Amino acid sequence: VIDIRKLYGQTGKFTYDPGFTSTASCESKLTYIDGDAGVLLHRGYPIDQLAEQSNFMEVAYLLLNGELPDRKSLDSFNNTITRHTMVHEQLATFYRGFRRDAHPMAILCGVVGALSAFYHDSTDITDPHQRMIASHRLIAKMPTIAAMAYKYSIGQPFLYPKNDLSYTANFLRMTFGVPAEEYVVDPVVEAAMDRIFILHADHEQNASTSTVRLAGSSGANPFACIAAGIACLWGPAHGGANEAALNMLREIGTPDRISEYIARAKDKDDPFRLMGFGHRVYKNYDPRAKVMQKTANEVLDKLGVDDPIFDVARELEQIALSDPYFVDKKLYPNVDFYSGVILSAIGFPTTMFTVLFALARTVGWVAQWNEMIADPAQKIGRPRQLYTGPTERDYVPVDQR
Ligand code: ACO
Repeated sequence: VIDIRKLYGQTGKFTYDPGFTSTASCESKLTYIDGDAGVLLHRGYPIDQLAEQSNFMEVAYLLLNGELPDRKSLDSFNNTITRHTMVHEQLATFYRGFRRDAHPMAILCGVVGALSAFYHDSTDITDPHQRMIASHRLIAKMPTIAAMAYKYSIGQPFLYPKNDLSYTANFLRMTFGVPAEEYVVDPVVEAAMDRIFILHADHEQNASTSTVRLAGSSGANPFACIAAGIACLWGPAHGGANEAALNMLREIGTPDRISEYIARAKDKDDPFRLMGFGHRVYKNYDPRAKVMQKTANEVLDKLGVDDPIFDVARELEQIALSDPYFVDKKLYPNVDFYSGVILSAIGFPTTMFTVLFALARTVGWVAQWNEMIADPAQKIGRPRQLYTGPTERDYVPVDQR
């Protein structure tokens, strides 16, 4: 009998923790979550205070630099981000290689990865200054790239950034504006969009952030690392849940069909899950979902949208929260449950929802990536495994098998 653990060098003790449910992969000063109490803090500040009183650029500065900016630092940061909003003209031709019906997340993965081929002057990751330039470029260019993905999918010409607008207004104009017409950004929509960006900015070591850290731990190109994060975020168990949640609400359609879907979610033989419900860390109401529900009320009121989907969402939440299955398993609405209702009211197609998530999460990804590279304890991420395959055996030539 061969001791496989010795054979493959698996000496010493290690933990077997599928899904990393109880393994910390790093130290971090960015984001604190108390999943049982439903608390989320960025650099110590509660998410509801940031969402209601701050703005996305300020939160981006906070996550990247550790403190809220004073007026001068905020102006300078806004100015820096604004200067980087343009993308290389050749990137526009890159889009034309994609099919028009490609999912915008597929385009986003490709285009953000391709940034690594355009910005060679910000890829020396040992230089903090270059790391910051790469971070600013990513934060600044994501709205332009995301809006271009949308414009490409609907066959409209791209709009250049208009740099006297705020980060969020600029994005809305590049998405919904058309070249010959003045596009006036509705302040309620701008505020709601900005808030949605804040709510998605960072969430400690979730799957996509861990992916960015793992990719970055080998010293890989920063733009390629963010493309890896985008790929991971796309999945329906992660960032793709907002798209899946709205599709589910539309499929349910009317409140009288909710019980059928609740029954399916509880049926162990049915793979169906209530999308936008449950969270690996929150075993209480996701604090972001609370702000999101309030924002949904405001936006739908302001836009005069009477979407029956919102009624379905609210009723579904009430029914699930009083059902022993969901109560016992501590399954509450997460950030994605109401975000789709708002985004749909603003006019985004469901395929853009995860793109908007990626745009906002880019801030968290670059902040986490910077923190990791600057950490003297940083090592290449290299998980181990429990080998369960065959023991050593001799090769048999093909005709003798
Ligand atoms: N509907 C029905 N049952 C659920 C749901 C759900 N949405 N979520 C979890 N459960 C059940 C599981 O079936 C499991 O039951 P069991 O213990 O009887 O087997 C139990 O609750 C625990 O679920 P796990 O999948 O083990 O929990 P995990 O922490 O691995 O998964 C996840 C968390 C992926 C978010 C899960 O709740 C889910 O799939 N939710 C729906 C998708 C979703 O909304 N994702 C967005 C997450 S937030 C974000 O990424 C921004």
